[in-house]
Amino acid sequence: MIEELIPPPAATAHAFTDHRAAVAALYPQEAAAVAQAVAKRRREYATVRMCARRALNGLGVPAAPLVAGRRGAPRWPAGVVGSMTHCAGYRAAAVGRSADFLGLGIDAEPNEPLPDDLLEFVSLPGERARLRDLADAAPEVRWDRLLFSAKEAVFKTWYPLTERELDFTEAELDFAPDTGSFSARLLVPGVDAGGRHLDGFTGRWLCREGLVVTAIALEQVAGH
Ligand SMILES: CC(C)(COP(=O)(O)OP(=O)(O)OC[C@H]1O[C@@H](n2cnc3c(N)ncnc32)[C@H](O)[C@@H]1OP(=O)(O)O)[C@@H](O)C(=O)NCCC(=O)NCCS
Repeated sequence: MIEELIPPPAATAHAFTDHRAAVAALYPQEAAAVAQAVAKRRREYATVRMCARRALNGLGVPAAPLVAGRRGAPRWPAGVVGSMTHCAGYRAAAVGRSADFLGLGIDAEPNEPLPDDLLEFVSLPGERARLRDLADAAPEVRWDRLLFSAKEAVFKTWYPLTERELDFTEAELDFAPDTGSFSARLLVPGVDAGGRHLDGFTGRWLCREGLVVTAIALEQVAGH
């Protein structure tokens, strides 16, 4: 799943169920962050961190507490960028060295219709028109949910780079159904990072086992 969407030398790990031992294995500062949360939130928080530490191990980076920084963005160990996601039936993490990646953003959602009215809120008219064509060609994919997921992956890539909000209607997405890729064109001023101007992102997606999974891996360019 996630490992198919994120290129090496990044590392990924995932879980389809929560691990009982994960909550007990939290660092004290992580346990404190979810002490008041419901049990389901504690389990998904702990399991995705177990995945993240497994992925860090794959990079050769020692395990470390992973608590939220500004606006919920996880604070990764020095020299590491990464992203985490959890939804019903799936938890995943992706990490990479900042020498190799400017940022990573991943998201997973159940392959189910978006709740009523949400599509209107998270999409642009042109996107909705393209989703209708995609649904005619491949009705097994919930394209409205995939659009939502890809926009969340965009935000998880965007925010750590900019510390700026980005509304759902401030990026226009386009999916290539055959190659499993997508592009996101920013409709707000872009950002200078890693020696280039970013006015959009490209990502990859898949739909399998009742899930849609999306990922953006923003690679460094040589010399930066
Ligand atoms: C932050 C947000 C993207 C999380 O997505 P989600 O589908 O609700 O939840 P997921 O389970 O997939 O991801 C949650 C994880 O995202 C990460 N995350 C949270 N805030 C983040 C941020 N500002 N930047 C990067 N990652 C963030 C965290 O690791 C979090 O897990 P944790 O709380 O256990 O650490 C979403 O709640 C949100 O605020 N969206 C509005 C902005 C947006 O998406 N705009 C679209 C622009 S086109």
